[in-house]
Amino acid sequence: MGVFTSTGGQDPAGHEQVVFCQDRHTGLKAIIGIYSTALGPALGGTRFYPYTNEDAALNDVLDLSRGMAYKNALAGLDLGGGKAVIWGDPELDKSEALLRAYGRFVQSLGGRYYTACDVGTYVADMDVIARETRFVTGRSVEHGGAGDSSVLTAWGVFQGMRAAAEHVWGSPTLAGRRVGVAGLGKVGKHLTAHLLDDGASVVATDVSESALRWARETYPQVDLVADTAALVAADIDVYAPCALGGALDDDTVATLRARVVTGGANNQLAHPGIDKLLADRGILYTPDYVVNAGGVIQVADEIEGFNFERAKLRATRIFDTTREILRLADAEGVPPAAAADRLAERRMAEVGRLRTIHLS
Ligand SMILES: NC(=O)c1ccc[n+]([C@@H]2O[C@H](COP(=O)([O-])OP(=O)(O)OC[C@H]3O[C@@H](n4cnc5c(N)ncnc54)[C@H](O)[C@@H]3O)[C@@H](O)[C@H]2O)c1
Repeated sequence: MGVFTSTGGQDPAGHEQVVFCQDRHTGLKAIIGIYSTALGPALGGTRFYPYTNEDAALNDVLDLSRGMAYKNALAGLDLGGGKAVIWGDPELDKSEALLRAYGRFVQSLGGRYYTACDVGTYVADMDVIARETRFVTGRSVEHGGAGDSSVLTAWGVFQGMRAAAEHVWGSPTLAGRRVGVAGLGKVGKHLTAHLLDDGASVVATDVSESALRWARETYPQVDLVADTAALVAADIDVYAPCALGGALDDDTVATLRARVVTGGANNQLAHPGIDKLLADRGILYTPDYVVNAGGVIQVADEIEGFNFERAKLRATRIFDTTREILRLADAEGVPPAAAADRLAERRMAEVGRLRTIHLS
């Protein structure tokens, strides 16, 4: 470790491959982490972020690439898990040359890793990277891409929520339920539309004035509250975190009135013990990486030549996967996150093992 400047902090044992990429001329410093290719080429986005040091960048790529292996396995994709980080400030350091230099490193892996958008990278950036590599998804529709992945992310979250509703209330619908949506961004907006269509009432919050204006103008029936604390304390049946990570911390769990938590945000649990706290309070939590996999399903479909209906069908199956995880969690007496991990590991082991059958 310590390839760029310092000593890496986290042991990358368990990952198949960790690649450090540097191009001094453009200032590119990137790390590509491939956790597993047991199910196929590793797919995961590229995060462009001003990490404080190299250890932070390395730790992030190791965590994120492992998470993608589990997410892709449970999404039923023939894809392994990987992720990349570009260490820099996207506002200051991003340039055509830097992105293209990065694209050449992705290409050099020969298809072991496919990239996509993440924090700090956008569809337009993927189009630039695609000028140097075939192994990129999340491109614009004009370039054969799947476009904005939040469309199927929200659809998948809605499917996971339906499965949770069935588990708790006996019927796979949100009709008559009150759902609290924290974050009316790309995912939260689409999710709000699905919920209202299904007959739910929605109460929401956002820190952005333009998001609140959108809600007032588009859906005047949505109740808006001042902040997430007010939303969590409100009389809601379902809490849908759709803003940043860490939405479920000790204080939130202690005050939450909802029976179900299902949302689009990544990394909702502030620490690993939170799912047990939720379970102890009788709150059903559907693991974020299960229900928000619609986005990766959408961009993964590009590899076959993007077909929206096929991708939507796959994202709809998040209902069945969530249902199976909740059933397994009950049967084995573990929180849903532990059940989800077991299912993902089983698929990686069982399907991954098939590659040991020799083909001439
Ligand atoms: N877009 C996708 O396809 C996708 C896929 C998987 C996971 N996710 C995750 O879902 C979440 C939302 O993604 P998005 O694409 O909608 O992002 P976005 O940036 O479009 O929306 C996020 C919204 O949250 C709001 N917000 C930020 N801090 C807040 C706070 N403290 N309280 C209330 N609102 C707050 C922002 O103002 C913004 O409107 C993120 O955690 C993202 O990582 C997104």
